[in-house]
Amino acid sequence: MKGRWIVLALMAGTFAFGETMDEYLQRLATQAKKENPSFGGFSAEKGKEIYFSKHIGKRGKEISCASCHTGNLRQMGENIFTGKKIKPLSPSVNPKRFTNVKKVKKWLRRNFKDVYKREGTAQEKGDVLLFMRSN
Ligand code: HEC
Repeated sequence: MKGRWIVLALMAGTFAFGETMDEYLQRLATQAKKENPSFGGFSAEKGKEIYFSKHIGKRGKEISCASCHTGNLRQMGENIFTGKKIKPLSPSVNPKRFTNVKKVKKWLRRNFKDVYKREGTAQEKGDVLLFMRSN
């Protein structure tokens, strides 16, 4: 009887937490491979370019990811539009980062639109996540 409750609790846990970050990255990789058969894995080097390259963003101003999150992911950032402080993105100083897949997806979608005026592709999202997680 007790065993059955443990199984139920584990199942509930899976539903509550949803996809893990590794599962999300795995899914992005599958999608990237579908979009480009020669896809050979994500690259932190390409992610760095995506993070630092400047584009005329949604508001007609030249920006990059670093405009709000700074060039050093271990530092506090600031939302250049609202002036609000942003906690560091680097999991080495902010362990909560990249643990909540829903939050990661929501902000990737929004922030890609801010900078690139479109959603990121699976490849781009995977590359930039790899870069951010390792910095
Ligand atoms: C206009 C300012 C701004 C720009 C530009 C920006 N971000 Fe953000 N980003 C934010 C804010 C605000 C949050 C949410 C607040 C927070 O999580 O501290 C956030 C959160 C995130 C998160 C959530 C991380 C987590 O696990 O908590 C990711 C991932 C992210 N940004 C990636 C990017 C990438 C990649 C780019 C460039 C394509 C980018 N951001 C550009 C403002 C910005």
